[in-house]
Amino acid sequence: MTRQDLEERLADLLERWDLTPGETYGEGFRGLVVAVKSATGVPLVLKVDRPGSPFDAQVSTMCAAQGRGYAAVVAADLDRGGLLLERLGPSLASSALDPPAQVTALTTTLLRAWEVPREVGPPVLEGHDKAAQLARMVDEGRTQADGIRWGPALDLAHALAAHLSATRDAARDVLCHGDPHPGNAVRAGGSSGAARYKLVDPDGFRCEPEYDLGVVLRDFTPALLADRPSATSRHDGWCRLAATMTGLDGERVRMWAFVERVTSALALRAVGEVATAEAFLSAAMVLRP
Ligand SMILES: Nc1ncnc2c1ncn2[C@@H]1O[C@H](COP(=O)(O)OP(=O)(O)O)[C@@H](O)[C@H]1O
Ligand SMILES: [Mg+2]
Repeated sequence: MTRQDLEERLADLLERWDLTPGETYGEGFRGLVVAVKSATGVPLVLKVDRPGSPFDAQVSTMCAAQGRGYAAVVAADLDRGGLLLERLGPSLASSALDPPAQVTALTTTLLRAWEVPREVGPPVLEGHDKAAQLARMVDEGRTQADGIRWGPALDLAHALAAHLSATRDAARDVLCHGDPHPGNAVRAGGSSGAARYKLVDPDGFRCEPEYDLGVVLRDFTPALLADRPSATSRHDGWCRLAATMTGLDGERVRMWAFVERVTSALALRAVGEVATAEAFLSAAMVLRP
C-alpha cells in the first residue's frame, strides 16, 4: 500500500461521506486518523486503514458494541478501509494519570467492552489460541534476539504461554479488544476525577478476559524502571487491583502481562524500535520471579 493509494482513498472517502478534514491525529504503519466535520457540522473522526481481515474485525467489533465501551461507528467502508467514528476527547496516554489510575480507567472500560457477544469474533481453531500463538512468537524470536541477555526472559515467557494455552477454558472466552493500551482509550466525558473512556482500534478476537488485562499491565515500563527495588510489589499491586475490580484470576493476569511484555519487546525490536524494546526487556528481567 503506497502513500499515494492512502491519499486517494482518503480523498475518495471525504467526498463520499461529505466531510471536511481537520487536524491529523497520527499516522500509523497501516493508515491515518483525521479529525473531520460532517456536512451538518458534527465533529467526527475518519480512520483510513489497510483493507483486509484485521480491518474487517476492527469494524465488526466496533459496530457490534453500538457505542458501549467503544467509540460509536457512524459509517464504515470495508473495501476502501474507511471507518467514521464519533469524535471523542484526548487519549488516556496523554493524561497525567498515574499507573493505578490508568489501570482503573482501562479496566472499567474493558468491563463494558467485554459485553460485546464473543460470537462476533471467529471461532478459535485448535492450536491457534492466543497463548499458543505467543509461544510460537517467542520461539521465532530466539533467532533475532541476543541469546545471553534475552534468554531467561524468553524461556519464562515461553513456559508461561505454554501453561496459559494448556489450561485454557474456551467457555470463559470473551471478545477481547486485543490491544487496550492507554493510546487506544479516548476520553468520553465524566468529571476530571472520574473520567470515562471508550476504546478504539480493537483486534477483536476470542480469548479469556485476563488476556486484555495482561495487555494493560504490560505497560508502564518507565514508571517500573524508575524504582527497580519496588517494581515487583507495585506491579503485583496493579495486577491485584485489576483482578479485584473484575473478579478475574490475578495470577493469570500477571502471567499474560509477562508474556505480553516479552513478545512486545520482540515485536518492537523487529520494527527497529530497539531502545523501547530494550526497556521492555529490562522491565521483564526486573519482574522475573
Ligand atoms: N473516535 C476518536 N475520537 C478521538 N480521538 C480518536 C478517535 N479515534 C482515534 N483517535 C485518536 O487517534 C489515535 C490513533 O487512532 P487508532 O485507531 O488507535 O489508530 P492506529 O491504528 O494508528 O493506532 C488514537 O490514539 C487517538 O488519540
Ligand atoms: Mg491505536
